[in-house]
Amino acid sequence: IKVTFIEHNGTVHTVDGEPGQTLMETAVKHAVPGIVAECGGACSCATCHVYVDDTWKEKTGAPSEMEEDMLDFAFDVRASSRLSCQIRLKPELDGLVVRIPEFQN
Ligand code: FES
Repeated sequence: IKVTFIEHNGTVHTVDGEPGQTLMETAVKHAVPGIVAECGGACSCATCHVYVDDTWKEKTGAPSEMEEDMLDFAFDVRASSRLSCQIRLKPELDGLVVRIPEFQN
């Protein structure tokens, strides 16, 4: 499952993810800058914040209530904001593109 992370400065990282892994775990494994993931995926730090491209929103689904609450602590939250530790990779997400917020590194 190929996923692409685009840094705020435009640097593109396309990496291979495993089904069942979260987007955050995939980013950390490949040392993608900007995905800090302080809490290790417990949905309690908001340092794994990403913007999901509009065309992918339907496939990634809607954030849970817990995730919405946590996103209130993230910077520059937009309609496309998600916590990458709450997105689990599956075959339908092959080709997923997300952007990393400016102030997260
Ligand atoms: Fe902490 Fe996602 S890794 S909220």
